[in-house]
Amino acid sequence: MTHPTTASTIRWEQDDEGVVTLVLDDPGQSANTMNAAFIDSLDAIADRVEAERDAIRGIIVTSAKKTFFAGGDLNDLIRVGPGQAQEVYEKNLRIKRALRRIETLGKPVVAAINGAALGGGLEIALACHHRIALDAPGARIGFPEVTLGLLPGSGGVARTVRLLGVTDALLKWLLQGTRYSPLRAQEAGLVHDVVTSREELLTRARAFIAAHPESAQPWDDKDYRIPGGTPAQPKFAVNLPAFPANLRKQLNGAPYPAQRNILAAAVEGSQVDFETAQTIEARYFTELVVGQTAKNMIQAFFFELQAVNSGANRPQGTEPSQVRKVAVLGAGMMGAGIAFACAKAGIEVVLKDVSVEAAAKGKAYSEGLLAKVLAKGRTTEAKRDQLLARITPTADPRDLEGCDAVIEAVFEDPALKHKVFQEIEGVITPDALLCSNTSTLPITLLAEGVQRADDFIGLHFFSPVDKMPLVEIIKGERTGDKALARAFDLVRQISKTPIVVNDSRGFFTSRVIGHFLNEGVAMVGEGIDPASVEQAAAQAGYPAKVLSLMDELTLTLPRKIREETRRATEEAGGEWRPHPADAVIDRMVEEFGRPGRSGGAGFYDYDATTGKRAGLWPGLREHFAAGGSGGSGDAVREGTRIPFEDMKERMLFCEAIDTVRLLEEGVLTSVADANIGSILGIGFPGWTGGVLQYINGYEGGVAGFTARARQLEAAYGERFAPPALLVEKAERGERFTD
Ligand code: NAI
Repeated sequence: MTHPTTASTIRWEQDDEGVVTLVLDDPGQSANTMNAAFIDSLDAIADRVEAERDAIRGIIVTSAKKTFFAGGDLNDLIRVGPGQAQEVYEKNLRIKRALRRIETLGKPVVAAINGAALGGGLEIALACHHRIALDAPGARIGFPEVTLGLLPGSGGVARTVRLLGVTDALLKWLLQGTRYSPLRAQEAGLVHDVVTSREELLTRARAFIAAHPESAQPWDDKDYRIPGGTPAQPKFAVNLPAFPANLRKQLNGAPYPAQRNILAAAVEGSQVDFETAQTIEARYFTELVVGQTAKNMIQAFFFELQAVNSGANRPQGTEPSQVRKVAVLGAGMMGAGIAFACAKAGIEVVLKDVSVEAAAKGKAYSEGLLAKVLAKGRTTEAKRDQLLARITPTADPRDLEGCDAVIEAVFEDPALKHKVFQEIEGVITPDALLCSNTSTLPITLLAEGVQRADDFIGLHFFSPVDKMPLVEIIKGERTGDKALARAFDLVRQISKTPIVVNDSRGFFTSRVIGHFLNEGVAMVGEGIDPASVEQAAAQAGYPAKVLSLMDELTLTLPRKIREETRRATEEAGGEWRPHPADAVIDRMVEEFGRPGRSGGAGFYDYDATTGKRAGLWPGLREHFAAGGSGGSGDAVREGTRIPFEDMKERMLFCEAIDTVRLLEEGVLTSVADANIGSILGIGFPGWTGGVLQYINGYEGGVAGFTARARQLEAAYGERFAPPALLVEKAERGERFTD
């Protein structure tokens, strides 16, 4: 056995009583990660504790950084190729072995979790016999691996399953990446003790060591049984048939590779001994690390999200700004949500509508949201009252005095929007930022109604505002850099993610999601079973099924947008091309009187009293499967069947192809914005890493995607024709990157 002299990222501190404190402290780094130096250090430490076992009374693991431990080194992980599977697997087993050697030393090992313990951090803590967490601000505990397409591979699956049981481990911790506060982690049984100061953290750790001279993990007791049983046991098997359905409900769609592998590692691992479970876990972990999905997700949810949020698109050289008092015009669904988001961020809000009653109704929305948060114990009455006191409902423009930003969210009518800005321009501060939350109207057109067009910008929020993390910032032709920078800062001030696009009808998000909806509807028109269409959207990984989403948005909306777009296209001398979905939507509204959920009937039936969604409307099959239904003409025939893969890809491809056109047109100027915007704004499946990364990562890369687009074009219509930019990239062997 080698006796280490150095463990470069883990400091060894030993006191007179034989208590060893292992201080995780990667020199020169702001956080500790599972990099090569750490793995070497872990091996060295395992050697040393075994060699000096008799002199050691117990071990405390803590960190010198603000966080306890950050997890895997994503810079390394994103570069791993399929040829490195064996290397990844062996490295993973090395980490597991080192942790296991410390865990089975027979001496008490305590994790003194001084800050966030996410992913690898939580796994190190779980390999300890006792876990004490400091209740520090921002200290979160959880397994975010799944959100990056990975699984907790350093014993995280095997140990969590043993500690909490298969069902709780999966649904509460492993499959959704939820991060918990130390107190909630304690309630869930993953942490034993929570303290409020660093001193207490170490005092309690020492007290545990003194009281438990010979510690071992519960799963190392031969009589230990996994709580709730394992899927092989009869008791568990009773619940098993419902498990996939529950899972699907919780995950909001079909599981992607990381979720499937976590599920498999947990279930298979629960039926074998701990060592075998670790090997199973290593196998599933390796498969993910060398695969494409993890790369897509790490790229999007780590690197690109960081680039977008840190202002890669914010104009250089403009001073950082902060809004103190914002006017929200229109207290309807969107205005009410925007008012809440701003007040939550500490901004004073004047919420204006046509009457005080209407404005107060908008404020009541915040009251309702806060009542729920309070009931869950996630805020205090005092904090609730402070937030509500920041929202002033009014109908009087004079109350807007001193507002340094305006966000307009009145009805989607250009004349009304012009009017409400005119009403208030003289009252607000002379250089206030002017924003419109329009979802479809050109910003350049709306800017004509204000005196300072260079301060006017689009700020497109998504519904429901409190849940949706994205805001699409739209630059009009006359919008100045200063306004763009201020809009960006405002979006960050309320902790949302800003993407920036140039003005165009429907901008990026509304235009692209329109293609998804149209494609689903077109399939119904072709006579394809509507239930299969819904299934295809879910299987592709979309969070909402396509026809149900169409019903939510109402079928009258695309008709209105279509008419406006047609008029604008023809006025500009362009050629208007109808979409195969148009005729289906027209028949649904005109012939069958089914305009969507708010009208009581759409592609689905709705319960007349509760408004709850019932099944798909049986008439769909009757009227649209019979042929000549106005779908794509002669292609329509009874009970049309096309490959399921084609159904999924038609939805994914139509969105991806139009995104490339938006890049060509200069509406989109950044790949990161397109990827992040597509996932966070319009539900493009997260496993793809976003709409352009989907093209990069497609089998055969950009060229493979282009070839497949041509096949879809031949089979389903010219809307799948690859745009010139795509063909060019394919020919040059390039990818979509910033
Ligand atoms: P809404 O109909 O719920 O609310 C509009 C509100 O504006 C009403 O409360 C109305 O009383 C008020 N209003 C009308 N005239 C006014 C005036 N002169 N002064 C002050 N307030 C006045 O509409 P919603 O859904 O909130 O939409 C508002 C805007 O946000 C529209 O431009 C819409 O296109 C856009 N938008 C809507 C989204 C959605 O999902 N509903 C998503 C993103 C943007």
